[in-house]
Amino acid sequence: MKEQIARQLEEVRQRSLGLLSPVSEEDQIVQHSELMSPLVWDLGHVGNYEEIWLLRMVAGVPASNPELDDIYDAFKHARRQRTRLALLNPNEARQYIGNVRGRVFDILEDVEFDPTNPLLHEGFIYGMVVQHEHQHDETMLATLQLRPGEYPVRLASDPKPVSITTEEVLVDGGTFTVGTDIEPWAYDNERPCHQVTLPPFYIDTAPVTNERYLSFMAEGGYGDRRWWTDEGWAWRMEASLEHPEFWDLDGATWSRTRFGRKETLPMDEPVQHVCWHEADAYARWAGKRLPTEQEWETAASWDPKTKTKRRFPWGNGEPTPDLANLGEARFKPTAVGSFPGGVSPLGCHQMIGDVWEWTSSPFEAYPEFNSFPYREYSEVFFGRGYKVLRGGSWATHPLAIRNTFRNWDFPVRRQIFAGLRCARDA
Ligand code: AVJ
Ligand code: FE
Repeated sequence: MKEQIARQLEEVRQRSLGLLSPVSEEDQIVQHSELMSPLVWDLGHVGNYEEIWLLRMVAGVPASNPELDDIYDAFKHARRQRTRLALLNPNEARQYIGNVRGRVFDILEDVEFDPTNPLLHEGFIYGMVVQHEHQHDETMLATLQLRPGEYPVRLASDPKPVSITTEEVLVDGGTFTVGTDIEPWAYDNERPCHQVTLPPFYIDTAPVTNERYLSFMAEGGYGDRRWWTDEGWAWRMEASLEHPEFWDLDGATWSRTRFGRKETLPMDEPVQHVCWHEADAYARWAGKRLPTEQEWETAASWDPKTKTKRRFPWGNGEPTPDLANLGEARFKPTAVGSFPGGVSPLGCHQMIGDVWEWTSSPFEAYPEFNSFPYREYSEVFFGRGYKVLRGGSWATHPLAIRNTFRNWDFPVRRQIFAGLRCARDA
């Protein structure tokens, strides 16, 4: 297990530094959007988090510099105020996180994964730190997408998609298992595993494509009060929403700007950069609704033949590049039907990867939730108006996603790589 943890720590650091390497120092310090931190804050923050958990909590190492704890505490300063802090500059930040990492490796050699210590059991705390840095890498990718100017994207070739002939699948009502007790690196909000009883429902076999979303727009979806909730309509008016973020109409053709480059909108890709209100309005226009997170998890994980639950739609094995579009293999979603090998037993494509999928569910604690190892990861966000997203995006690393993983954001946010799939009552 130690070698694997060491490899995963190295890999995530390469990813973080690699994402920042094409960005000038100046550009790492400035704020590209009110919604995001300066990139160099994320870098210092992941190192400070690692210092707190893997040096202080695991081995009692005293704080290297208590001021850094304040600067890099996500709860002390709002994202838009972070440029005003005495941040480490890019060079200093790289040095700081490198020093922390050096000591982490020293300690890792002697650490014992004591099963009676919940922090260390099955390497949980190392898994938490690895996932945390990967999550901030996705956050940095959202910042890079918002940043003006071209950013070099990786150009992996796309698989040839199969055509999906059924629009939706019927899931018989029944009792299903949601959450997990056995996933070693699951966050507290995915626990405990519990039973839910669901009435029968239909769920789409694929995420909503740009083409379908354009039909909603062409039929006046943004101007039709009927499709929107009161709150959604108020926001649509206030923010003048008329199309997904990063889209432009040139003459009669829609284009999108992807990491600073304008390109023709690909019709068969899942729509992304829509907020929850847009997703919810689209679903109502289509005569459907968003799935609950319990329905989503059932569609992704339930195997009706064996009556068991899977870690991933394709089974219990880790994601590979031929099963899902993850880890910025190509810096964009792939066409629907691109991963027939990744289909869930119930017949849903691309539940994992491509785009996060908005659900109708508010972010709340599961029954008998216990905060672990700290309240500020999940608990303080429960019941505060966030909506749950599932499945990860093209920018999510394989180590930071599984069928039980829960993400959340405010219903007005569009900078995340989020789209939707519809459901309806049967
Ligand atoms: C799960 C993506 C909502 O970015 O606020 C990062 C992840 N938590 N550092 C966030 C997180 C602490 C979290 N999200
Ligand atoms: Fe964080």
